[in-house]
Amino acid sequence: MTCMTRRDGELAIENVLLNSIAEQQGTPCYVYSRAAISEAFQSYATALEGQDHLICYAVKANSNLAVLNVLARLGSGFDIVSLGELERVLAAGGDADRVVFSGVGKTPVEMRRALEVGIRCFNVESIAELETLNQVAGESGHVAPVSIRVNPDVDAQTHPYISTGLKDNKFGIDIQSAPSVYQQAQAMPNIEVHGIDCHIGSQLTDTSPFLDAMDRVLDLMDALAEQDIHVRHLDLGGGLGVVYRDEQVPAVGDYIAQVRERLGERLGDRKVTLMFEPGRSLVANAGVLLTEVLYLKHNEHKNFAVVDAAMNDMLRPSLYEAWMDLQPLSPRKGEEQVYDVVGPICETGDFIAKERELCLEQGDLLALCSAGAYGFVMSSNYNSRTRASEVMVDGDQFQVVRERETLSDLWRGEHCLP
Ligand code: LLP
Repeated sequence: MTCMTRRDGELAIENVLLNSIAEQQGTPCYVYSRAAISEAFQSYATALEGQDHLICYAVKANSNLAVLNVLARLGSGFDIVSLGELERVLAAGGDADRVVFSGVGKTPVEMRRALEVGIRCFNVESIAELETLNQVAGESGHVAPVSIRVNPDVDAQTHPYISTGLKDNKFGIDIQSAPSVYQQAQAMPNIEVHGIDCHIGSQLTDTSPFLDAMDRVLDLMDALAEQDIHVRHLDLGGGLGVVYRDEQVPAVGDYIAQVRERLGERLGDRKVTLMFEPGRSLVANAGVLLTEVLYLKHNEHKNFAVVDAAMNDMLRPSLYEAWMDLQPLSPRKGEEQVYDVVGPICETGDFIAKERELCLEQGDLLALCSAGAYGFVMSSNYNSRTRASEVMVDGDQFQVVRERETLSDLWRGEHCLP
């Protein structure tokens, strides 16, 4: 599943040939499709028509200002996890009233700023955090809107590093203790209870863990109502998977339809606002990473294609052994060989793709697919490599939405001893 098409054999995004972007911008370079992002957002919005809702894009998936701006113009809200993400959303024209603030380690400084700009809700993950928020809100003359992030203890059946809803994970408050935490929150003078929040993991390829989690959240909502604590929104987090290879992933519309059906059965005439925090499913397949083959290298048992993108540019294969598709921009006719596609970084773990059948020559350009989520945002300067540029295609135009870093950017803020 990709936003790319082939035109006379050449890869394109919307009406722009990727070769022309690589030629003008150089590589490595991230390329995003405005149309693909918009389409993904609309599939959530359409599926939620007629239901009070807020789609809060998880900024961590791709925080480029242009990406945030495209989503803000579509009416998206935002799920943030840091002051940096909050300021990015505001700089991109996002509406503070549509921002929810997640994360286990919000600092008082971050809380103060979020209160000052008037965000929609804090997703609180511990009692200690709740106490700090109550204090910070009191000091600054605010009342903080709050959801408790509950940990429903369901197995998201995904990679252990991106599973968050099990009781051994650091996230949320276990759902058994939640009623007493809500009572404490209700009693705090500068806290106002608004909702219940949960997020159980990422790249889920089945809806049943979502529905199990939702059932537990709805049980909690009922239990709270008996204690006269009435929540007005349910935030079901993000996590819907995407197709990287041949995964059977539920369509957004089907997932939302199942959620709505379950909600209807359980709530009857009662109304709540449904919130979601999708990241990957909005942007992963709206982006690619362009890279050039620097050298081909043939050892006794292995063929290596050394490319100019490395684990500092795209960490997912190294960190999660993630499989991401790799396509030549202009395919060659000839015999394919099995290659490990590796970067220039001095680590064996620096690879982009393993054991791929490709017909390559030095200088060829490749597109690493599904790179729009958790790509650039996880990049670093390891090995003193400048970070890639980012480009957004819109129809038959493209624009640089982040310039490639320069060498002097690498040591900005560093100082030698006198
Ligand atoms: N909400 C919360 C509270 C989250 O922690 C996350 C992701 C999301 C929403 C968005 O989840 P999504 O819809 O994107 O699955 N770097 C990893 C993924 C880490 C996800 C962290 N939390 C990867 O490249 O697979």
